[in-house]
Amino acid sequence: MKLAENKATLSFSQGGAPIELPIYKGSIGPDVIDIRKLYAQTGMFTYDPGFLSTAATQSAITYIDGDKGELLYRGYPIEQLATNCDFLETCHLLLYGELPNAAQKAEFTSRVTNHTMVNEQMQFFLRGFRRDAHPMAVLTGLVGGLSAFYHDSTDINNPKHREIAAIRLIAKMPTLVAMAYKYSVGQPFVYPKNHLSYAGNFLHMMFATPCEEYKVSPVLERAMDRIFTLHADHEQNASTSTVRLCGSSGTNPFAAIAAGVACLWGPAHGGANEACLNMLEEIQAMGGISKVGEFMEKVKDKNSGVKLMGFGHRVYKNYDPRAKLMQETCNEVLTELGLENDPLFKLAKALEKIALEDEYFVSRKLYPNVDFYSGIVQRAIGIPVPLFTAIFALARTVGWIAQLNEMISDPEYKIGRPRQLFSGAVKRDVQPIGTR
Ligand code: CMC
Repeated sequence: MKLAENKATLSFSQGGAPIELPIYKGSIGPDVIDIRKLYAQTGMFTYDPGFLSTAATQSAITYIDGDKGELLYRGYPIEQLATNCDFLETCHLLLYGELPNAAQKAEFTSRVTNHTMVNEQMQFFLRGFRRDAHPMAVLTGLVGGLSAFYHDSTDINNPKHREIAAIRLIAKMPTLVAMAYKYSVGQPFVYPKNHLSYAGNFLHMMFATPCEEYKVSPVLERAMDRIFTLHADHEQNASTSTVRLCGSSGTNPFAAIAAGVACLWGPAHGGANEACLNMLEEIQAMGGISKVGEFMEKVKDKNSGVKLMGFGHRVYKNYDPRAKLMQETCNEVLTELGLENDPLFKLAKALEKIALEDEYFVSRKLYPNVDFYSGIVQRAIGIPVPLFTAIFALARTVGWIAQLNEMISDPEYKIGRPRQLFSGAVKRDVQPIGTR
């Protein structure tokens, strides 16, 4: 963070001395005005619900240019990472700042695969849930529960603990998500197989049974790996900010990541892929493509409460680059499975075409986001809709940990404690119950 040449001057219309605020430059992106001393100097806070203009931290991990539709992990465009690297290379990049060379990749992969099993006792914890529990409810509990199993990696201020917690979380998330799925369908849990790739092992734990061999399809394995890579990190989004805020109190990494899982669940965030597929299925049930116009009218009617799920983004005011890559994967997977004429894919394309030409969407710069096509891919692979967000959480875990570790190592880090503009009752006296 470099001091910029110019400074900001804040003056007040009703007098009082103006104050000067420093401006910092990042390596790319908007400059920031440092308001840390604002309250001490003026007795005032800034007001910014939803953080529309507030940088809550400096970070060197992920950069998004929302106008260009560009996403960089540690400087590398997502298109290059999704095409030339696998998910574990991307994990290494996010965690340690650089892509691994061949030896580093082998070492990192071996460290992760050595931690794929979960403590056998976790099964009994899982069995306490109803079989019809939402997988995100199960996952929030299981991830938080890890802190009760791995006591040697719960000190967030100890770099060795953070490192082993990071590896454990990345390694165990696929196992936990697959266990949540197997439990929901009443099948036995499938243990990890460490000779498989990260994505291949996940598919195996999901779809193998003790009575039938499951051969991992390379096309589906690549699609799963790409889904993981595209979701690995996304700057200071709601769940990442939740993880940072939660971790800022000094809580253990498993608890902080569980908070991220809980936040991700919401339909405006990670839950959008599930909501998007449900929306496509609803339109299909109404009559499919012929009903798109009618549905769009509802979306544009503010009183209907209906949104076009998988469209719009706080940061992207252009096509989400992940959506393009996901559409490509969607084509590959549907072709592999002989589902080229999948009605939901056709419907999604029709919706996209209409939205991209419609004044409502054009004027608001609403474009497809990553969730628009990811649901169709996952459904084709055989993943049940309620599990979509759990898979997003699995993939985002590395980003959450990288961001958490970055925060703890930042000398400027403080416990997160937003302020408020109080608009409630001023001081008053409690009246005896009979006279209230
Ligand atoms: N359908 C219809 N109208 C929309 C949509 C949509 N999907 N998204 C935004 N708008 C409208 C919104 O009503 C508002 O209109 P107006 O200016 O007339 O009041 C305008 O566009 C600006 O929207 P906003 O709600 O102020 O934008 P935001 O930055 O607060 O919200 C969002 C971003 C992602 C929550 C929102 O676009 C949305 O709810 N999209 C659908 C859910 C979704 O797909 N979420 C996944 C996000 S990508 C995955 C992730 O990173 O988690």
